[in-house]
Amino acid sequence: MSIRVQFLFWVLVVCLVAIGGVGYTSLQFSKQAVFKEAVDKAALLGSYTEASLHYSRTQAVPMVKHLVGEERFYPEIMSGFVMARNVADRFTHTQPGYAIKNAAIDPLWPESKADQQELQVIADLKRDKSLKNTTGFMVKNGKEFFYEARPMVITEKCLGCHGDPKDASRDQIMIYGAENGYNWKVGDVTSAMFVYVPVSEALAIAKASAVKLVVMGTAYSLCALLLMAVFLGVKIVTPLKTLCKRTEEISLGKNLDTPITVKSNREIGELARSIDRLRLNIARLIKKKS
Ligand code: HEC
Repeated sequence: MSIRVQFLFWVLVVCLVAIGGVGYTSLQFSKQAVFKEAVDKAALLGSYTEASLHYSRTQAVPMVKHLVGEERFYPEIMSGFVMARNVADRFTHTQPGYAIKNAAIDPLWPESKADQQELQVIADLKRDKSLKNTTGFMVKNGKEFFYEARPMVITEKCLGCHGDPKDASRDQIMIYGAENGYNWKVGDVTSAMFVYVPVSEALAIAKASAVKLVVMGTAYSLCALLLMAVFLGVKIVTPLKTLCKRTEEISLGKNLDTPITVKSNREIGELARSIDRLRLNIARLIKKKS
């Protein structure tokens, strides 16, 4: 392999390693930015949902109860969860990809039933009651989500509707039946409020940017290598080849009258001048002998 090819090969290797490193680091930074944004969005959405649930429970529902009487139950205006569910439905309708779900092990509303992954998270929250929330990633229908789950701890107040079905209002039993969503125990964690933030698209964009960076970096490096190859050819390889040829001739005593004309005032030029001095000296020596 010629010195030029060897040199360019190693420069290419160094460039590719550097480009790979830059691409990988850029991907990691972009991923971190996506996750940071997802964490912030989930926290914001979770707090907002909790706040609206709190308002319904503490302000709206007691007032409606006072107006309609304790024995009647209209879920749409008397259950914070029904209100939260409907607000969430509207929100996710305008913000596709997001999801808010009050997932329960045994819910009144069948669609709120926790799936396998949610059951696992609820079990974790149940095990460690000191946790205010838990976060992580889930893949649903092939799409990746960042989730935040806040545990719903059962208090005495919940038992009127989620305790013994006999204590629940007639309206509630008529709408939801008496089978599921009951016999919850005070202090227990039977559900959690999940907020899902989609990250698949942002991650795909981050990956595509990293790939673009690598492709462009490789293209620029190849252009630089081409220029370098031309430079090496003109400034080093061709003069060196000429000098080699002339040194060979001098060693054979040939062509001693033709001066060496390699134009370079750097190292190659110095070498050319030295060889030229050698040519003159050898020519002189040969003349002396003869
Ligand atoms: C006045 C009755 C009432 C009270 C009190 C009440 N809930 Fe509910 N809760 C409901 C109804 C009705 C639903 C069904 C909501 C729906 O249709 O999505 C529900 C739904 C839920 C859900 C969603 C899963 C499911 O069962 O459908 C959770 C979680 C929940 N409630 C937790 C609580 C907690 C915790 C408390 C106490 C702090 C509480 N609830 C107090 C009536 C009540």
